[in-house]
This record gives sequence, C-alpha cells and structure tokens, in this order.
Amino acid sequence: MKALAHDRGSPHMLRAADAPAPVPGPSEALIEVVSFSFNFGEVAFRVPDLPDGTIPGWDAAGIVVTPAADGSGPPAGSRVVTFGWSGAWAEQRAVDTAQLAVVPDALDLGATAALPVAAVTALQAVRRLGPIVGRRVLVTGASGGVGRYAVQLARLAGAQVIASVGNPGRGIGLTELGAAEVIIGPEALHGRVFGVIDNVGGRQLADAYLRLESGGTVVAVGKASGEATTIDFEEARMRVDRGRIETFVIGTPLGGDLAELVRFAGRGDLDLAIGWRGDWIDYRQAADALVNRGIRGKAVLDIRRTDG
Ligand SMILES: NC(=O)c1ccc[n+]([C@@H]2O[C@H](COP(=O)([O-])OP(=O)(O)OC[C@H]3O[C@@H](n4cnc5c(N)ncnc54)[C@H](OP(=O)(O)O)[C@@H]3O)[C@@H](O)[C@H]2O)c1
Repeated sequence: MKALAHDRGSPHMLRAADAPAPVPGPSEALIEVVSFSFNFGEVAFRVPDLPDGTIPGWDAAGIVVTPAADGSGPPAGSRVVTFGWSGAWAEQRAVDTAQLAVVPDALDLGATAALPVAAVTALQAVRRLGPIVGRRVLVTGASGGVGRYAVQLARLAGAQVIASVGNPGRGIGLTELGAAEVIIGPEALHGRVFGVIDNVGGRQLADAYLRLESGGTVVAVGKASGEATTIDFEEARMRVDRGRIETFVIGTPLGGDLAELVRFAGRGDLDLAIGWRGDWIDYRQAADALVNRGIRGKAVLDIRRTDG
C-alpha cells in the first residue's frame, strides 16, 4: 500500500513510500482510509528518532474492510472515523475498535477525519472548565484546529466565548462559529474570564492567567508558540487572588467522545472547521501551511473522495 512514512532527511520528516499493509490485532478493525488529517503536534513536534519508515498519523476516516476478530466494533462496509497513535497516513490502517465512531451517511466521510484529536481535545478541555453557562471563556489560538472546535463547544455549553488570534485575518469565521468577540492576543482582553483554554503557551498563557476571575481555571492544552511560560506568581497573587492552571492530556480511548462529536456534526451543531483540503499528494503544501499558521482550522488530505 502507499503511505506517508517518517524520514529524517525529508521536508517535515515525511516521504511518500510503499509499505506493508497493517496486520490487525484481535480488537482491531482493518480500515480502508479515504481521508486523514494533520494535527500541529504530529507535524511540528514529531520526534526525529522514530525509525525511518514508521507510518505516523493519528486521525483517519474510512471504510471497515475487516471487522475486529474479537467481535467488537462495526461490521464490514461501515463508515468510520478513527484514532490511533500511528498509522493514519496510509491507504489502510488497523485501529482498536474503542478508538472509532460510526459516521452517518449524511456526513461527508472524509471531512470527519478532521475530528479525532482536535475536537476530542476541545471537548475534554471544555469539560475540564466545569459549568460555564453564562460565563466568559477565553480561547487562545482560536484560529487553529483545537481552537475552532473549542470556540464552538464552549458556546454550545452556554459560555460567552472570546476568541484570541494572531491577527484579524486569522479570526475570519470565528464569529459565525459562536465567538462573541475576537481579540488579537489575551493582552487585548477587557475584563476578566472564568475559564481559559490555552493552545499557545508562553507569553499568551501567562497573560491569560493574569486575566482570570478569582477561582477561575486555565486549561493548558498546547504550546504552539514553542515558548516556555514565565509567570510572576507574586504579581499573580496581587491580581488574580485565586486561580489555577491545569495541565491537559487528551484522554483515550476516545471512541465515546468521537461518537458524540459526530452526532453534533450530524445535527449541524458543530462545523468541521476545515481550512485546507486537498489530495494527499500535496502533503508538503498542507504541512507547510499548518506549521506557518496558514490554515484557519483543520487540514484534511484525501486519498480518495467519497462525497461525489
Ligand atoms: N495536550 C494535548 O493532549 C493536546 C491535544 C491536541 C493538541 N495539543 C496542542 O495544542 C496546540 C494547538 O493544536 P492545534 O492542532 O489546534 O494547532 P493549530 O491548528 O496549528 O493551531 C495553533 C494556533 O496557535 C497559534 N500560534 C501562536 N503562535 C504560534 C506559533 N509560533 N506557531 C504556530 N501557531 C502559533 C496560531 O494562531 P494565530 O496564528 O492566530 O496566532 C494557531 O492557529 C498545539 O501545541 C498542539 O500540540 C495538545
């Protein structure tokens, strides 16, 4: 089968390659992949010392070719969106049945490849804020994949959402997704917020923390800026009184949350927020755009289109 393989010497440490088809374990289904997505973390932060030839990739959507041998999961022919810690960027992947959700016919199957890591992260991070109905929530890096889902899901949970982006162009579409306000960086925030979902880290995380209401929470999801974060806690004590920063790591298996997100999307409550979509032959273009802050939302790469 054809795949994108890890290769230290290539741009983005990726090259198009021939690879053996995966052999599923007892609780894994074999999927024919129609589309996959790129996440910032797996493109920008992939460790160089993976063995060359490893097939990376977390998110893929496709059709079940062989159901899991242990009888779990959907039958052959089912349309599914899937997650695993590797193997998504290929014509076939083997995936644990606890890490997938069935996609209804009404949804464009390939487009749902945008969902797994970014949307489940946003869902779990919003939950970590606790009850947010009627409360102000700031999302940093709101222009990106996790950010565009976090804006929508915090809004669905009843929050007044303030979306923070790098420049006005990066904020296009966020009002339509439910942001009450779009600002350029947390330092532009007026007043305080009950919760923060921070995707950027560094200076933005420190600024956002100092703008918490007393008793508020920052969920520290990511460090897209690459900057370490310095917080002057003496200053924080004077300004915030009480407020906490929680580290965040996506919780797996994520099949249950993924199914919920597919339901939201099917009902029209969640936009898939795809900012780049194209043939997987153009993977370098997609990866360049993603790491250079050139995509508003998710990048989806099609192996074959099924939506007409
Ligand atoms: N903890 C977890 O389990 C978990 C799960 C998923 C993702 N993450 C992390 O969360 C972060 C967001 O992920 P994502 O998939 O939403 O990424 P993304 O689509 O690339 O979005 C990241 C956003 O961060 C902003 N940003 C600020 N400085 C940046 C810089 N120097 N380089 C790149 N972006 C910069 C950009 O917004 P502007 O251009 O508008 O400033 C960009 O839209 C990443 O760090 C990722 O690794 C963590």
